[in-house]
Amino acid sequence: MPTVSKSSSVKKASSSANAKTLGDLFHEQLKDVYYAEKKILKALPKMAKGAESEELSAAFEKHRQETEGQVERLDRVFEIFGKRAQGKTCPAIDGILEEGEEVLEDFKGAPALDAGLIASAQAVEHYEITRYGTLKRWAEMLGMDDAAELLDQTLQEEIATDEALSELGDGRINERALEEASA
Ligand SMILES: [Fe+2]
Ligand SMILES: [Fe+2]
Repeated sequence: MPTVSKSSSVKKASSSANAKTLGDLFHEQLKDVYYAEKKILKALPKMAKGAESEELSAAFEKHRQETEGQVERLDRVFEIFGKRAQGKTCPAIDGILEEGEEVLEDFKGAPALDAGLIASAQAVEHYEITRYGTLKRWAEMLGMDDAAELLDQTLQEEIATDEALSELGDGRINERALEEASA
């Protein structure tokens, strides 16, 4: 009995007081990822500078350049959606990036530094993959095929970056993290 009355009251609330739609959700998440990409754009040079391995540093620099293009794509998606490009604070990405900064500080000069940076960077990529996957799907549902295509291009870059980071870790970096510091 209580289950029935609870579900009927939820139904009532959603059909009267609050009329937010999938378009509103799309807009919110677009602002969220726009904020995130701009923060990531600032974080990547620090990670590239901090990385011990030249390969890892180059991977971060490559992704920084890609990220510039991703911000431009988001500008175009806002345009297609008919809204001003604008970010909205995303505590999730702030937290992930803060953890990355902690790794940079706490593991400076340590054999495990790069393994930690890869883990932090992959947390960022996974965050982006979930956001872009959702946004792409919603753009399709909202009939914005051009926006969905742009979002998919970025999604594919995030997936490729995540895979490249896994390969770098498997290559040598994680093994190096097992070593004792020689100094
Ligand atoms: Fe990105
Ligand atoms: Fe990314």
